[in-house]
Amino acid sequence: MCGVRSITVVALILLSLSSVVRPCPPSDRAALLAFKAALHEPYLGIFDSWTGADCCHKWYGVSCDQGTRRVADINLRGESEEPIFQRKRRTGYMTGYISPAVCRLKRLSSLTIADWKGISGEIPRCITSLPFLRIVDLIGNRLSGALPADIGRLHRLTVLNVADNRISGVIPASVANLTSLMHLDLRNNLITGPIPRSFGRLGMLSRALLSGNKLSGPIPGSVSQIYRLADLDLSRNEISGPIPEALGKMAVLSTLNLDMNKLYGPIPVSLFSSGISDLNLSRNALEGNIPDAFGVRSYFTVLDLSYNRLIGPIPNSISSASFIGHLDLSHNHLCGKIPLGSPFDHLEASSFQYNDCLCGKPLKPC
Ligand SMILES: *[C@@H]1O[C@H](CO)[C@@H](O)[C@H](O)[C@H]1NC(C)=O
Ligand SMILES: *[C@@H]1O[C@H](CO)[C@@H](O)[C@H](O)[C@H]1NC(C)=O
Repeated sequence: MCGVRSITVVALILLSLSSVVRPCPPSDRAALLAFKAALHEPYLGIFDSWTGADCCHKWYGVSCDQGTRRVADINLRGESEEPIFQRKRRTGYMTGYISPAVCRLKRLSSLTIADWKGISGEIPRCITSLPFLRIVDLIGNRLSGALPADIGRLHRLTVLNVADNRISGVIPASVANLTSLMHLDLRNNLITGPIPRSFGRLGMLSRALLSGNKLSGPIPGSVSQIYRLADLDLSRNEISGPIPEALGKMAVLSTLNLDMNKLYGPIPVSLFSSGISDLNLSRNALEGNIPDAFGVRSYFTVLDLSYNRLIGPIPNSISSASFIGHLDLSHNHLCGKIPLGSPFDHLEASSFQYNDCLCGKPLKPC
């Protein structure tokens, strides 16, 4: 009796010990070491902890699935408050490239290699073969080459952030197949070509940040079908054509930045009675009158229409807006008396300068 019981106890102890120390699969460990070998991090020593058999245990920036013990996350941020950064009193810097060896981590769910400033080379094409990927965050490096053409295969992807790199090529049409995507950030790269026409299929998208590229062609009308879209930033591109009227009818759109493009045609009436509170249309070739469509629903922290070809008066309805924090109508061809009213009381002359013949407070009397 006693013997059986002690054997059971020993077996239980062994079982629990083995589940505590069961290391990551050697193949995952080998993939991580190959990934590390392609990178050079001279200042912080973040890879010093990448030793020993168990890559799930105290390897900096690596975490594993508790059940499978497979590597689930690589989370390496070059700008962090962590002790390793505070001790050295500096931000991270790394050179080298992202090795395709990461694609051997078949259960990888997030790949964050952010703000290391010096990592170059291309995004490994093979990441599209990692079906569990939810987060790809490679912001703030020197990555070049194009986005993988078949990126649309990553049907679990919720975050795609490659901002502040040197990514070129076009936005692959397959992007429209990323139906789980919530956050798309391609800002400040060298991406060319049009926004895919079927972009509107990204039904979960809430932020689409594409500014500072070389995108051309029109704003696809399908964008207005993205029910959850709150923030659309297409500024500093070469986007042309008219602004789709339907953008002003979107349920939760609150920031619309289209400044520094080649947009022409009238400003849609819908934009002024929408939920948009941050609207920058500066530096385009927009024509016609400022729509006489302000009302109590018009609440703007920023309304910047400067550097366009707007004509006519500032509509009187603008006085009925709930709030206009920052207004810039300068560098147009507006003419007439500046309306009075509470949204205007705090504004300075610079909001109205360089027009054809505006007059009244805060400019000279009519
Ligand atoms: C999107 O996914 C569908 C279904 O999986 C596929 O048939 C289509 O080719 C994909 N589109 C692109 C542009 O990859
Ligand atoms: C609007 O966009 C222009 C051009 O990109 C920029 O200079 C300006 O600062 C922006 N306005 C506001 C209020 O942010």
